[in-house]
Amino acid sequence: MNNALFEPLNLKERVIKNRFVAQAMEGNDADKGGAPSERTINRYYELGKGEWGLVVVEAISVVETSLARVNGMILNRKNLDAFKRLVDAYKTANPDGSLFFQLTHSGEQSGTFADKTCVAVEKPAHRYLSASEIAGIRDAFVAAALLAVEAGADGIDFKMCHGYLGAEILRPNNTRADEWGGCFENRTRLLREAITELKARLPQGFILGSRLSLYEGIRGGCGTASAGEIVEDLSEMLNVIRLMDELGMDYANVSAGIPALTGAITRPTEPSKYLALHHLRYTKTVRELVVKEERCLKVIGSAYSSHRMGALAVMEEMLTKGYTDLCGFGRQTFADPLMPKKVSAGEPVNWCILCSACSRLMTSQRNDGCAVYNDFYKQELKTLR
Ligand SMILES: Cc1cc2nc3c(=O)[nH]c(=O)nc-3n(C[C@H](O)[C@H](O)[C@H](O)COP(=O)(O)O)c2cc1C
Ligand code: SF4
Repeated sequence: MNNALFEPLNLKERVIKNRFVAQAMEGNDADKGGAPSERTINRYYELGKGEWGLVVVEAISVVETSLARVNGMILNRKNLDAFKRLVDAYKTANPDGSLFFQLTHSGEQSGTFADKTCVAVEKPAHRYLSASEIAGIRDAFVAAALLAVEAGADGIDFKMCHGYLGAEILRPNNTRADEWGGCFENRTRLLREAITELKARLPQGFILGSRLSLYEGIRGGCGTASAGEIVEDLSEMLNVIRLMDELGMDYANVSAGIPALTGAITRPTEPSKYLALHHLRYTKTVRELVVKEERCLKVIGSAYSSHRMGALAVMEEMLTKGYTDLCGFGRQTFADPLMPKKVSAGEPVNWCILCSACSRLMTSQRNDGCAVYNDFYKQELKTLR
C-alpha cells in the first residue's frame, strides 16, 4: 500500500482522510420532484463504505426548471429531508469522510423536457435568458448552498464545467452586451457575486470549490484566448483560478471538455484513453501556479478511471511529485464503489473497462450505473438493445 495515497490533506479546518475523490456522477434516479430516492441514497451509502476521502454528490439543480436528466436531483426546501437522509446514510457508513454537493444550473444542456436556455448567443430551440433571470440564478445558487449546509453537507462544488450554465457564461464566446457578458469581469460575475455573498453567510469551515473545464475544445470555449479561437490557451482560465483563490475559495476541481460535444476529452473511452494525459497536464499546470504564487487553493484532478488498473501508479506519481493534491475518479466509483477500502486492504478491485455503457444509459435517460459489474444496470442496458 502506498502512503501518498492514504495521507490526509487539510482543506481549511477539514481533514480529507486520504487522496481518493469520488467525483460527481449523475445516476439519474431521483424521485419525481427531484428528491434523492432510496436508490440514490443507497449509492452514497456504498461510497461511504468505500472510504473515499471525499465524495462529491452528483450535479444537483438549484432551480426546478433546468434539469439535464429526467430524474435529476433538485435542491429546494421541499426536498431537504431526503437530502438530510442522504447525508446521514453517507456519514453512518463513513463518519470521518467528507461529502460535498455539486450545485448546477443545466442551461443549454437541459433536456428538451425542461426549460432549455442559453446565455451567450441566441440559439434555435433555446430560450435566451434575460439579465434579471441570470441574477435570479445567482440567487438560486446562494439559496441552494445555504440549504446544503442545512442538509449537513461539508461543502459545495460550484459547477462551472462541462458546458453547463456556469461554463456557458464564463467562456470568451459569451459576448452578450449586458453585465453578464463581454469582459472577463462580467463573465466571472456569477461566480464572484455568489461566492462573495456566501463567504459572508456560510458557517466557518464550510468548503467552497468549483469544477472547471480548463479547455472545452470548442471555438471560443473555456481555455481559448477569444471568441474566434479554437486553439488552447489557458491564460484566462488561470486567471479564473487566481480569482477563486482571491475570493477565498478552498479548491479547484480541474476537468476538461463538454460531454455533449467533446465528450472524449471529458471522459476518454478505451479507444481515446490517451486523452486522459491532457488532464494530468492541466492539473499540474494549475498546481504549479498555486505553488509558485503561494496561493492556498487545493487542486483536484480528474479522469483517473481512464488509466484503468494503472490509476494507482499515476496517482502516486502525481501526488509524490506535487502535481496535485487530490485525485478524482468518475466511472471507477460506479464500477467499484468500495475501491479505496479494497486497495487499502490489498483486495482485488473491479476496474472500470471504459466501455461507456453507463454513459449510454445516462444519455438514454435511464437510471445509470455500471452495466459491467452491477446486475441492475446490466438488465437496464439489455432493455436498450
Ligand atoms: C455517467 C456519468 C455521469 C457523470 N455525471 C457528472 C456530474 O454529475 N457532474 C460532473 O461534474 N461530472 C460528471 N461526470 C464526469 C465525471 O465526473 C468524470 O469527470 C469523467 O467520468 C472522467 O473521469 P473518469 O475517467 O474517472 O471517469 C459524469 C460522467 C459519467 C460517465
Ligand atoms: S459501464 Fe463500463 S465505463 Fe461505465 S463504469 Fe462500468 S465498466 Fe466503466
